[in-house]
Amino acid sequence: MKALIAAGGHATRLRPITWTTNKHLIPLAGKPMLWHVIDKIVAAGITDIIINVNPGEVESMRTVFGDGSIWNASISYLEQTGGAKGVAHVVANAESQLRGHKFLFFLGDNIILGSINTFVDRFTNEGLDCMLAFSHVKDPQRFGVPEFNADGTLKRILEKPCEPPSSFAVTGIYLYNEDYFDAFSQINPSSRGEYEISDINTWYIEQGKKVGWEEITGWWKDTGTPDALVEGNALVLDCLATDQFVIEGTIEEGAQIQGEVSIGKGTRVTADSLVRGPVTIGENCLISASYIGPYTSIGNDVKVINSELEHSVVFSGATIDTTERICNSLIGLNATLVDARRTHPKTAHRLIVGDNSFVEL
Ligand code: G1P
Repeated sequence: MKALIAAGGHATRLRPITWTTNKHLIPLAGKPMLWHVIDKIVAAGITDIIINVNPGEVESMRTVFGDGSIWNASISYLEQTGGAKGVAHVVANAESQLRGHKFLFFLGDNIILGSINTFVDRFTNEGLDCMLAFSHVKDPQRFGVPEFNADGTLKRILEKPCEPPSSFAVTGIYLYNEDYFDAFSQINPSSRGEYEISDINTWYIEQGKKVGWEEITGWWKDTGTPDALVEGNALVLDCLATDQFVIEGTIEEGAQIQGEVSIGKGTRVTADSLVRGPVTIGENCLISASYIGPYTSIGNDVKVINSELEHSVVFSGATIDTTERICNSLIGLNATLVDARRTHPKTAHRLIVGDNSFVEL
């Protein structure tokens, strides 16, 4: 079986972060979002993985995930061609690689806190043609939603219905056989001009194919907003196994480390600091006279000096040197936060704020 991961798109609501970083590379619990997806796929026994990326992004993705040897897997990269034509088209774009195989299709911004092993095993053991993963949500109208017949069998899947027929969302984790390509040749773009994955799933059901479904819990779907990302970071940190937290840096005598904390090589935590997990701190950072509170992920080469920081994601190369408390924040690559009172006039804020930034003063 192969796996295709969708990692394209432009995530406009996450600008300015996504001007320079593909959404799927945003760090959650110290690893790029897609890293967690690859972990789950490999854990389910699938090692032949294709990542669909935006045109021009193959090399930047390859730099992060390589050829898959880290996972004892094979990863190849495929550029989206013909523009963004919807989720269903991403699979059609990979037809030459997927023809003749059963495959897992995984939308890379869907994070599973548990495992997908049972889901994959059922597809194989029951000889299914298509397998869907459902999760109960409060706002099904934002997703594909299953409609059931009176006898409980699947009737169809509706894409973002105004009046959802059930409280399930169809998550972005799908298994298909190669009938997919027949389905794709028979569907048309929806009113929003996209080939909808829900129309493919409805095709399987209406053609009488063997379609299974499984309810999954522990599904986190990035809604594309900074708040949701900070929350996703917290969820992933909460679910990391204890052995994933490793201290390799230097903790000076007198520094306090509480709870589950990871500290990368070359990082120094000075004596007058408190780090309260769950927290991940990358390599070559300096944490000096600071408090790092729960649910914080810090990248590599970050300096946090005389500051208080919690429930936030800090990208590599950032400097935080302010006496203010920073909370629920995304701090981008190489960003600098300093104390306003260091320069004149002392009561003013001096800001260099990138396009689409959000600043709360
Ligand atoms: C896509 C699918 C939708 C599915 C969702 C899951 O929506 O079209 O059916 O429920 O992914 O992540 P999108 O996130 O592209 O709006």
